[in-house]
Amino acid sequence: MKLAHVSLLPCLVVVLVSLIGSTCADSHGNFLNCLHLRSANSSTISKVIYMQNNPSFSSVLNAYIQNTKFITPTTPKPLVIVKALQISHIQSTIYCSKKHGLQIRIRSGGHDFEGLSYVSEVPFVILDLLHFRAVKVDVKNEVAWVESGATIGELYYGIATKTKTLAFPAGVCHTVGVGGHFSGGGYGILIRKYGLAADHVIDALLVDVNGRVLDRKSMGEDLFWAIRGGGGNTFGIVLAWKVKLVQVPPVVTVYTVNKNLEQNVTKILHRWQYIAHKLPDDLFTDVTITKVNSTQAGKKTVQAAFKGLFLGGVDKLIPLVQDKFPELGLTKKDCLELSWAESVLYFGGVSTQSLEIMLNRTALARPTFKAKSDYVKEPIPESGLEGIMSRFLEKEVDVVLMMMVAFGGRMEQVAENEIPYPHRAGNLYQASYLVGWTNGEDEGKYISWIRRLHSYLGTYASKSPREAYYNYRDLDIGTNNVGYTSYEQASIWGRKYYKNNFKRLAQVKSMVDPMNFFRNEQSVPPL
Ligand SMILES: Cc1cc2nc3c(=O)[nH]c(=O)nc-3n(C[C@H](O)[C@H](O)[C@H](O)COP(=O)(O)OP(=O)(O)OC[C@H]3O[C@@H](n4cnc5c(N)ncnc54)[C@H](O)[C@@H]3O)c2cc1C
Ligand SMILES: *[C@@H]1O[C@H](CO)[C@@H](O)[C@H](O)[C@H]1NC(C)=O
Ligand SMILES: *[C@@H]1O[C@H](CO)[C@@H](O)[C@H](O)[C@H]1NC(C)=O
Ligand SMILES: *[C@@H]1O[C@H](CO)[C@@H](O)[C@H](O)[C@H]1NC(C)=O
Ligand SMILES: *[C@@H]1O[C@H](CO)[C@@H](O)[C@H](O)[C@H]1NC(C)=O
Repeated sequence: MKLAHVSLLPCLVVVLVSLIGSTCADSHGNFLNCLHLRSANSSTISKVIYMQNNPSFSSVLNAYIQNTKFITPTTPKPLVIVKALQISHIQSTIYCSKKHGLQIRIRSGGHDFEGLSYVSEVPFVILDLLHFRAVKVDVKNEVAWVESGATIGELYYGIATKTKTLAFPAGVCHTVGVGGHFSGGGYGILIRKYGLAADHVIDALLVDVNGRVLDRKSMGEDLFWAIRGGGGNTFGIVLAWKVKLVQVPPVVTVYTVNKNLEQNVTKILHRWQYIAHKLPDDLFTDVTITKVNSTQAGKKTVQAAFKGLFLGGVDKLIPLVQDKFPELGLTKKDCLELSWAESVLYFGGVSTQSLEIMLNRTALARPTFKAKSDYVKEPIPESGLEGIMSRFLEKEVDVVLMMMVAFGGRMEQVAENEIPYPHRAGNLYQASYLVGWTNGEDEGKYISWIRRLHSYLGTYASKSPREAYYNYRDLDIGTNNVGYTSYEQASIWGRKYYKNNFKRLAQVKSMVDPMNFFRNEQSVPPL
């Protein structure tokens, strides 16, 4: 495979009221005693516990912090990291955390934009699922079981080494963890053809607040509904997911066409908004806008990378795009024919000869960033797009990116309440935007820049509620209190992520975790 033209874009890019009166140090010591007492074999539990005085503590903690905004001396650290090897370690961690008033943060791949899988303002334990990462692909029945600590790359690799004609409709960056990704929806380059990762979950194994291991049948359809998009760290610990795989042709075609301000990018982008959601389902497109050096020395311009994935060969793709979107000027030299798995690497900006890189959990650059998301239902007028471009050109920012992902296709056909993820019919595209900086720099001006952009886009994006994608977590849109949070208060952020599904999520929460043990800044509270 040849990926010479691949852009080098980096892959896009509480609540505990202390239940007991003891100090942190006490609850910490008691917690550890409790873990040892609960373990039939104390020598195995010792091997999976990392306390702050363990020389490996920082490396274990930092290994899967994917937003380096949260690697600073002042970022709150867990008292203990439990890197569970077996289910009994997970059950003991739940039991002992409850008993000693510690909160649990569950970490699978560590990509949470706000670091909620490894940061908390109250005393907490990280339950790291790194060792739960088996992937079992059954080609004949077109299904797979995948454990939460696996990455989507490990899943794709597991499929690709068995067949080129099956795939899974999850994200692009291969380091993303299955645990968080599936529990918040999960989309990628098959979204128009097949919808979301969570749409394809057909069974799951979950450890509930009482330590019981449940499958779809024993958890019941309400809880099974809730975990497919209703958020992680809320309903229990999902150990593994059974997914339905989807069919793809052995050869797919990808393309990239770059346009900048000197090449009428705004006009072309304006047109794209009218076309992209109506293209045949076999053609997925997105646009990534960045700030780049202009050909004029010392000047900057804004560039849009128009990318596509076509589930078929190049000879069919070219006439299709020339017919529907002639403004793009797509030619054969912009295209590459690849296998589906290779096309994931292409979209992730990974240039390599080999799929093995999908097994490398640290292969991608880890930026320091803040991001936000929007859903767009009406084309933004050219003047509105120009406003985005001019904000990109502001001096105070340099690493800025906006990604527009075309909807339509399958997303039009799934009901809003099928699973908790509600952003379906009527969306032209999802826009997500990000500002990056160098770790250690004062982040104030960057955060305020992206908040201003969000406020500017208020005119053009969805309203009442101003929707946002749960997996692009953003604490600016509202949070729970440290302590009791009413359903009404949580609805402020909850309706943005879940629209009318938020109520049912709260009802499920009341049923399965009425004491609200699993919680964080944006977990669904019981009613
Ligand atoms: C570089 C990058 C690229 C991305 N690309 C995409 C993309 O293409 N498409 C897309 O849809 N999203 C994408 N995302 C967003 C991603 O889907 C979410 O951040 C997702 O939550 C990551 O899952 P994780 O397991 O890696 O994260 P974690 O940080 O480990 O977990 C995220 C949340 O889920 C909880 N959680 C984790 N595991 C479990 C579990 N087993 N049971 C219960 N709760 C759990 C955590 O406590 C936390 O609240 C991307 C993020 C990054 C940083
Ligand atoms: C405890 O676990 C260790 C490591 O797995 C093993 O070597 C040992 O035999 C076990 N002891 C008992 C009593 O099961
Ligand atoms: C940009 O658009 C103008 C007017 O529509 C046209 O004259 C010009 O040739 C275009 N430039 C490029 C590089 O396509
Ligand atoms: C952009 O230009 C600056 C100097 O103006 C230079 O330092 C930098 O390396 C250039 N970046 C790229 C990607 O070419
Ligand atoms: C994974 O990728 C990183 C970054 O490119 C590299 O340093 C590391 O050696 C790779 N690990 C393996 C096992 O290939």
